[in-house]
Amino acid sequence: MREDGTRRITWYPITGGYLQHVEGALDTVRGAYLHNGSWSTNKHDLAALPKPNIDFKETAYGLWQRGDKSHADMSEAPIYTYFIMPAGFLRLGADAGGGDTQKIQSFYLPVDDGHCARFEVTFQTGGSGGGPGGGRPPHDGELKYPKASDDFGRNYDGVDSISGIPPTPRGYFRAQDTMATETQGFPVVDRTTEHLGAHDFILTAMRMMILMGISDVRNGLDPKHVIRDPQENGIVCIRGEDPLEFFRAEREALGVG
Ligand SMILES: [Fe+2]
Repeated sequence: MREDGTRRITWYPITGGYLQHVEGALDTVRGAYLHNGSWSTNKHDLAALPKPNIDFKETAYGLWQRGDKSHADMSEAPIYTYFIMPAGFLRLGADAGGGDTQKIQSFYLPVDDGHCARFEVTFQTGGSGGGPGGGRPPHDGELKYPKASDDFGRNYDGVDSISGIPPTPRGYFRAQDTMATETQGFPVVDRTTEHLGAHDFILTAMRMMILMGISDVRNGLDPKHVIRDPQENGIVCIRGEDPLEFFRAEREALGVG
């Protein structure tokens, strides 16, 4: 709805049930592990950090989540992410270009049990180059980074990352995410053999929300976040109960009060 800033829209197909990709997105702690480089030394720094703190709240649209950014990219400010029913994910960040907001929103559109399409819209105030990630090559309809047929670019002998996929160029983030979510299982990950950890409660909360939505539909009701009245559409509700919390936290982390 905003007319300032820059935005960028891309999409590409992914293998595997849509929900395992949504789960991969919601698991923000992965950042420090899956996307980290210099793993042989950084893993010791990570091990010395306190366990990550993750808060979450149920909202009218899904879930609000705040996690320690130290476990996302080892910096200070918290990370704010959102699960948007039924298959959306949004990450809110500080705008490197000097504006107030950077948003990266993905939607995982189910195609069939074993395939989905990931649509991504990024936005930032000010800046140029098509929004966050504008420097990356586009991938409209095709994942151009190493994919399953290229073993996702894995090279355990030559690359010092937990996945064996190089942490740079930045586009290889895609290959890391795709590897982690596609290789869980086809067509759908077998969740009867999974071992959820204490910090996986965000996934449990999201699954319960979807199960309740299924139950609602069976009972003739709308699931959460179905908007039928155009007057109610356009309500921007992405920052939890306190719309300024994100900015206060960013300023505190930067020491500017
Ligand atoms: Fe990722």
